[in-house]
Amino acid sequence: MAYTLEEFCENTTRTLAGTPGAAGRDAVRQDLEKLLKDKDFVAKYCGPDAEPGIRTVYRCPETGYNVLVHVYEKGKKGPPHDHGDSWAIYGQAVGHTVMTIWKRLDGGDAKGKANLEQDKVFRLDPGMAGKFEPRDIHGIEISDGSKFVRMTGTDLNTIETLVFNASEGTVQPGNRL
Ligand SMILES: [Fe+2]
Repeated sequence: MAYTLEEFCENTTRTLAGTPGAAGRDAVRQDLEKLLKDKDFVAKYCGPDAEPGIRTVYRCPETGYNVLVHVYEKGKKGPPHDHGDSWAIYGQAVGHTVMTIWKRLDGGDAKGKANLEQDKVFRLDPGMAGKFEPRDIHGIEISDGSKFVRMTGTDLNTIETLVFNASEGTVQPGNRL
């Protein structure tokens, strides 16, 4: 049965309003996997003619979550970062994304310093979605031609988020994928 972006967003708003916390967000993650398996959705937003770039396709007036579509020609690798007080869900439509999860070992007491340890690595292939809770730290490696949906609990341009340099042991405010 077809599943549209509009139906997905209606369901997501209902889920987030009715089930706060990680459980609701995991239900949204599973629902996003269902959307990513809809051929019409993928063709419309992530088809061969999709313009490279990042587009916000929905912002919920009720709960504040955002749905963005990312389209890349060339792959790239980004540094470890968090999404501040926001959660995030990444769902792959085309190509793949490798996620590296990091643990922060220090207490955040020394300004500009952070001690990170690599925790685990997983790969998102088409139809798969991964969830990150507030303050989770991850790095992202995008394949050539990767197209994915990214959801955030809040518009990340409106909150403080952190970018880490694991080898130098440093951290600074910044906004990354
Ligand atoms: Fe991210």
